[in-house]
Amino acid sequence: MRMMSTIHQQPDAVVHPDEPIQMVDLHGQYLRIQTETDAAMQAVLERCAFINGPQVHSFAQALGSFLDAPYVIPCGNGTDALQLALMALPLKPGDEVIIPAFTYIAAAEVIGLLGLRPVLADVNPDSFNLDVTRLEELMSPRTRAIIAVHLFGQLCDMEPLMNFANRHNLYVIEDNAQSIGATYTFSNGLRKQGGTIGHIGTTSFFPTKPLACYGDGGAVITSDKELAVRIRMLANHGQQTKYNHQLIGCNSRLDTLQAAILEVRLKHLETFNAVRQEAAVCYDVALTGKETWRIPHQSSFSSHVYHQYTLQVADGRRDALQAFLQEKGIPSMIYYPLPLHHQPAYRELCRRPLSLPVTESLCRSVLSLPIHTEIHKHLPYIVNTLLAWTKQ
Ligand SMILES: Cc1ncc(COP(=O)(O)O)c(C=O)c1O
Repeated sequence: MRMMSTIHQQPDAVVHPDEPIQMVDLHGQYLRIQTETDAAMQAVLERCAFINGPQVHSFAQALGSFLDAPYVIPCGNGTDALQLALMALPLKPGDEVIIPAFTYIAAAEVIGLLGLRPVLADVNPDSFNLDVTRLEELMSPRTRAIIAVHLFGQLCDMEPLMNFANRHNLYVIEDNAQSIGATYTFSNGLRKQGGTIGHIGTTSFFPTKPLACYGDGGAVITSDKELAVRIRMLANHGQQTKYNHQLIGCNSRLDTLQAAILEVRLKHLETFNAVRQEAAVCYDVALTGKETWRIPHQSSFSSHVYHQYTLQVADGRRDALQAFLQEKGIPSMIYYPLPLHHQPAYRELCRRPLSLPVTESLCRSVLSLPIHTEIHKHLPYIVNTLLAWTKQ
């Protein structure tokens, strides 16, 4: 893979390149791995084992080896993965699950669907992840689990989180949809892949995710054999053997074509993550030290795979910057514009502290810039446009 040149070599690049800039360039990325991907798909088409074909099992094994996790259960998508994880635990209706207030909707959604109650935690202003220093305040006699969502490419501070969970007998689910490949370093130097530290890890293979297929897909990860057996049954109508339903489950499968694509994509995961890391360094170098925004923070305990490169724009000027970028042909996204407790469907359901100041502030200030494996050619234009805005 060609690594990108640093933007410093082209300081005067202000002209919008001919190719439109995209938040994620799926086609460009496909072209890099076209031959392998087409061959993998062709092999599936020739065999016609579209459901539960051999690639589903070989991909699960390969992902398990990559993560160093004994059990990987592929499923239909990342939301199902979270639902399966919760269904596998001994939870009762009304039990409470702590989740970050600043996150994608999936965790709150499956908690609500299962008759459980989300409890919203504020997040750390540097990492955007769960503020693990304030979990005690959120506890009640019904608290049973925590879902740690590893947002934007870096991991929650898992060591204090696991210590807290162990002290209070809580289950920990890690939602690693956005950060697969990021590693956590414990204080004793031990390093582990995200998604393998809590009791259960989940991920999504949605096409824009770091490990992505060309449709829907997800997986549940655990090192607990009993949980693995249960999750596998739950994803397959609650049966272990055909027509013998021991649990009320659901139907959630990763299809063989997606598994074959993922087997190819997994081989490139670290390279693709590294290319985005390099793009992030270019952004950092060019954008650091401005009063107008804060560049993303890199936690000491986690590597960052930059699923998103997210600025915090000061003084209520985020929307103006976004409009300026759009005018110049540069896409950007607001992840996430509305905290969970302001979502109409969740206002009543969620228990929460009196205020969630960091979450509220991030929803007003965050702006994610384009970052993907093909971004290097656009970086000079993007950073020069951003810098021009600060001089207006
Ligand atoms: C953090 C997080 N969790 C879960 C999901 C849900 O994944 P899926 O779209 O595959 O259901 C997403 C998807 O955007 C996500 O970002």
